[in-house]
Amino acid sequence: MKKILFVCLGNICRSPLAEGLMREKIVKLGLEKQFKLDSCGTADYHIGELPDERTRENALKNGLNLKQRARQFEVADFNRFDHILVMDNANKMRVIGLATSEIHLQKVQLMRDFESASELKGKDVPDPYYGGVEGFQNVYNILDRCTENLLNHHLEAIEN
Ligand code: 4NP
Repeated sequence: MKKILFVCLGNICRSPLAEGLMREKIVKLGLEKQFKLDSCGTADYHIGELPDERTRENALKNGLNLKQRARQFEVADFNRFDHILVMDNANKMRVIGLATSEIHLQKVQLMRDFESASELKGKDVPDPYYGGVEGFQNVYNILDRCTENLLNHHLEAIEN
């Protein structure tokens, strides 16, 4: 089983959507038993909350119902998960700052390392929180293609 954790700042915009999109693709393929997914934030601002209303509305427009509750990243997550996919460079640094071993560090990657276009790899998934509604669809589009590529990456590993 592959255990993947998606991380952003608040766990109410980007990472719950990444988790939801990845789960949707996995369920479509009937591969629920092969993956464990979760998401969290590096900050404690929104613990226990549903995803941001704008994130939920935009996801619903695209056929995806998000209802998980926010939680904060914990050091124990380094042991619970094989892959820790972080939405931006600032939060990647925050996660890396909590690592206590080389094995932990090796689990941490940027979500957009899974972009196909080389010029997009390593970029931040932009934080839509303080912007307009168009930012939420932009984040959706980015995460839809990155989770597709992430899934294909793991399917290749399962097949080989
Ligand atoms: P997220 O977005 O990290 O994608 O969940 C944010 C959510 C909340 C805040 C910032 C970003 N905030 O400052 O409360």
